[in-house]
Amino acid sequence: MELTELLERRFQTAETVDADIFAKAHAFDSADAARALGLYPYFLPLENNDGPVARLQGRQVIMLGSNNYLGLTADPRVREAAAQAARALGTSCTGSRLLNGTFCVHERLEERLAAFVGKEAALVFATGYQTNLGVLTALLGEHDTAVLDWHDHASLLDGARLARGRLVRFRHNDLADLERVLAEARQHGGGILVVVDGLYSMEGDLAPLPEIAPLVRAAGARLFVDDAHGLGTVGPGGRGTAAHYGLTDQVDLIMGTFSKSFASVGGFVAGPARVIDYIRHFGRPMLFSASLPPPNVAAVDAALTVLLEEPERLERLHANAAMWRAGLRAMGFEIGRAEGPIVPVIVGDEARTLWLWRSLLDAGVYTNCVLYPAVPRNRALLRTSVMATHEPAHLARALELFETVGRGLGIIG
Ligand SMILES: Cc1ncc(COP(=O)(O)O)c(C=O)c1O
Repeated sequence: MELTELLERRFQTAETVDADIFAKAHAFDSADAARALGLYPYFLPLENNDGPVARLQGRQVIMLGSNNYLGLTADPRVREAAAQAARALGTSCTGSRLLNGTFCVHERLEERLAAFVGKEAALVFATGYQTNLGVLTALLGEHDTAVLDWHDHASLLDGARLARGRLVRFRHNDLADLERVLAEARQHGGGILVVVDGLYSMEGDLAPLPEIAPLVRAAGARLFVDDAHGLGTVGPGGRGTAAHYGLTDQVDLIMGTFSKSFASVGGFVAGPARVIDYIRHFGRPMLFSASLPPPNVAAVDAALTVLLEEPERLERLHANAAMWRAGLRAMGFEIGRAEGPIVPVIVGDEARTLWLWRSLLDAGVYTNCVLYPAVPRNRALLRTSVMATHEPAHLARALELFETVGRGLGIIG
């Protein structure tokens, strides 16, 4: 199969009408074709991913595709906390938070997280994805409207679709479009929840909260910020995007995940105590699914302690991010409006993006290849992200390889 034909199909599930429910699976062949061309960028099994260098297919690669922003998954204190919790409390809670799955360690972590982000209360879920589903399905009744930015994470979109209310979207970070959508939502009646990412996961730009918050207030709406990537990386002490702008009081709900800076898995939402208690009773992805196991809770708890006690980690992350962005920009790569550790290398054309990804991997640099529908058509990119634990030498070497490969493929001049 030609590369162009493959890209036309974009690894999508074949659309077939067939009496056999499995027919679509048999017809789906574009992933096989991509594998045959050596251009399949997904589900690559890492043998190890402890830090700035990972091991893939027997080779060392400089890791520029991890959300382990603070490098804490390899921190001995975090690992030991998880191991101790497994020994003391076991490997699973074997039940939902509602019934036998709430342990004292969950409540202690919730208190610490609420204090960390400056809110009255917090509620822990088993994943970040479930957190977003839980918040949106609990709060959006059939007369309510969810207003989402077009670049919002898929879990927010899925949550809004699963909820009973209406869903409307506004152009990414476009305030005039937000105003238009809010005016229309007000006419419809019911409550309005405006939902944005704090630090956008693919292009690494921030939501302009100082402009968004007054529009939300003026419309009598509420503001929910998914700060999966901002917490631990942005704002004073890593307290996230709302704190970065000094707007914690104007953001009604802040959500975070543990699968990035917090070196674990899980998620939480923080906000007014009454609202959190309501979500606690109506957040179905939490009520009907087992709770976060103690080792994961303990890892987050330990990671939070390290973050609070070692602010220099955040400084190193910022210095690395600045070096990485400046290096790519100086070579002529298009990196959009990246402001933090997530730096997109925007290529546009999908074939060239795949070749860039493959050539960099062959040269020893791991990046993530992001194609439609994760980004708009003609905006294919490599998502790169730096960690506090990258040494300048790692980044300098990766920049050299980006330059050689980028020139070779004619992506930079
Ligand atoms: C912005 C954003 N929100 C939510 C999630 C879901 O979090 P998790 O992977 O912890 O379930 C992610 C993770 O990819 C994300 O990037």
